[in-house]
Amino acid sequence: VPVTQMYNFGKDWAATRRLPQAIIIGVKKGGTRALLEFLRLHPDIRALGSESHFFDRHYALGLNWYRSLMPKALEGQMVLEKTPRYFVTVESPGRIHAMSQDVKLIVVVRDPVTRAVSDYTQIVSKTPGVPSFETLVFRNGTDEEFQVDNLWSPIWIGLYAVHLERWLAYFPLHQIHFVHGEKLVSDPAEELGRVQDFLGLQKIVTDKHFYFNKTKGFPCLKKPEGSSKPHCLGRNKGRPHADIHPQVIHRLQQFYQPHNLRFYQMTGQDFGW
Ligand code: A3P
Repeated sequence: VPVTQMYNFGKDWAATRRLPQAIIIGVKKGGTRALLEFLRLHPDIRALGSESHFFDRHYALGLNWYRSLMPKALEGQMVLEKTPRYFVTVESPGRIHAMSQDVKLIVVVRDPVTRAVSDYTQIVSKTPGVPSFETLVFRNGTDEEFQVDNLWSPIWIGLYAVHLERWLAYFPLHQIHFVHGEKLVSDPAEELGRVQDFLGLQKIVTDKHFYFNKTKGFPCLKKPEGSSKPHCLGRNKGRPHADIHPQVIHRLQQFYQPHNLRFYQMTGQDFGW
């Protein structure tokens, strides 16, 4: 038996695997990876690095399986995971509620138009040769030529009010925190401050942790967890977007406007899109 196992050096002996007390539930391409990596700097947070997809895909494996994925945490530390797909899957709110009524939920939201283009850019990078954005975004048929296809996933995910409604059937609004995706880029410390407040944590992640990397065009970490070198997110985060015709962008802005207004009403927050 290695000596370390015999004596359990350090405080690790007290650490256990627990179900998460907080979950980043969405949205895809909102900035969820950045938020998770930033929150990880906090000593009172233990975060699962990969997306578990428990509540949407692997629910049949049971809560003990889910718990076994979690990093070990000390008493007083908060366990966090992120799976952006949860926000848009019908089963997730009820299942998460069945796990815990008190779990804190975080959603990073971003202008649904840029989010859609970001989503499409990712699809193209994974499947080269897919049809153009312009082809996919409008429904087929001559009479409906400029009808936005709200069932196309890059469009459908951005219908935030529709998805949020399902969460509000299970959780009170104050248990859901919305991170402003654009501000997470322009002022990460401010957004992180709000998240730490929401989670009931001391404000430890501050502007001292970030610098703006001009080459990347995004905030990066001066010293990520367990390293002394500066660190930006990978190449698949913050990549150049597909070039979309301005008229199509304009049409999408019109399409989303009533949905956005409804979302602002529901959350009591104007995101300014
Ligand atoms: P783009 O690649 O379209 O710019 P997610 O992690 O949820 O998939 O979100 C990816 C998006 O996070 C990126 O989309 C980028 O805009 C945004 N983002 C926010 N903060 C970032 C940061 N510090 N570094 C890189 N990307 C960041």
